[in-house]
Amino acid sequence: MIPSPIRPLLNWRTGLLLAAPALTGCELWPYEAGYPYTTTDPISDFGLSTHELYATITYIVSVIMVLVSILLAYTLFAFRDDGSEGNPEQIHGNTQMEIAWTLLPVAIVLSLIIPTVRTIFKTADAAPAGAMDDSGMVITDDAGKPVKPTVDIKVIGKRWWWAFEYVGTDVVSGNHLAIPDDRPVNFLITSDTVIHSFWIPRIGGKRDAVPGRVNNIWFNLTEDVPAGEVHHIRGECAEYCGEAHALMRFEVIALDGPDFDKWMGEYAEGPTSLNASVKAKGEAAFLEAGCVGCHVVRGNETANGKIGPDLTFFGDRRYLAAGVEDMFPTHLEGEEQMAYARETLTKWITDPNSIKPGTTKSANASRSMDGMNIPKDANGDGVLTEDEFPAEKVADIVEYLLQQQSSYPLR
Ligand code: CUA
Repeated sequence: MIPSPIRPLLNWRTGLLLAAPALTGCELWPYEAGYPYTTTDPISDFGLSTHELYATITYIVSVIMVLVSILLAYTLFAFRDDGSEGNPEQIHGNTQMEIAWTLLPVAIVLSLIIPTVRTIFKTADAAPAGAMDDSGMVITDDAGKPVKPTVDIKVIGKRWWWAFEYVGTDVVSGNHLAIPDDRPVNFLITSDTVIHSFWIPRIGGKRDAVPGRVNNIWFNLTEDVPAGEVHHIRGECAEYCGEAHALMRFEVIALDGPDFDKWMGEYAEGPTSLNASVKAKGEAAFLEAGCVGCHVVRGNETANGKIGPDLTFFGDRRYLAAGVEDMFPTHLEGEEQMAYARETLTKWITDPNSIKPGTTKSANASRSMDGMNIPKDANGDGVLTEDEFPAEKVADIVEYLLQQQSSYPLR
């Protein structure tokens, strides 16, 4: 007879309940993105070292589990009630056994602690100055400067999105960033309001983003990206930080070294090949709607706001609202896909709360400290109606944003 406290756990409803998170988790992401949230398929040296640790500990505890299971099965069988009278043989005060069951757990705990601490120290070291050769020396030129210097990226957790600033350059991006495959990348992680946790499962993490503090993660990609290709990696916030915590993701694109340098050059400059009429109409509407107060678009002189995400090369992004909404779903193609992107972006501009509850772009955000509203939203209901701002000007903004593409769009 199964004891009563365990029995409720065995019915089919509980089984379904336990299986539900696993099942839904499998459906959320497009197939072509691979398994973006696995830690068991690492593509960086950082990820590999934590994965190896995970594997080592799994092997050790598996052996222990098998041994304990065998002992338990033997004990249940050998010492079962044989119907005889009186107490079974008592082992209280057996010194040998006392010593054995004290030392054995200590040995097990030590075998887990030693590799763990070693990996923690290894991954918490300061980043090297640049790409290293096989012996671990930084490769320098005749003047002693690193040939491929480490890329430092400041990460700022916002409510609820991520800002990325390439240290020592003008390049800033929101929820979308590129990394090279041929030199170390160093994330300097902080936050400007609440605590988040920065996590790119296939690369490494999680590291807390704490206001007033900088935590770092540095790594080399172990995956080689062929020239001209864009490899897509996903990241997310891994610590509860408020209403839109679960809607705080970001996209990482891994590029071949020379492609990364080209990406940096393009991003520093902003879109230069934008159609002149799209640019003129877009910039005018962007200014009139008040978007310029919160967003930067490099190459647009009036767009200087630093409150919202930098929107330079917005058209490179596949997802909207910090990785929440796929603007370019793969079941659509060509013009149909483009029409869907326009429609989704229009909805985001005019009714942001319908896409991302809790966004500081909506009227509901008056609950938050930022209290940001859509500038033209006269009655403050979080929805931009035709009376408040004409749809054709919204369309100008949509076109202006979507047509800004670098050589490396994520589609
Ligand atoms: Cu940011 Cu959770």
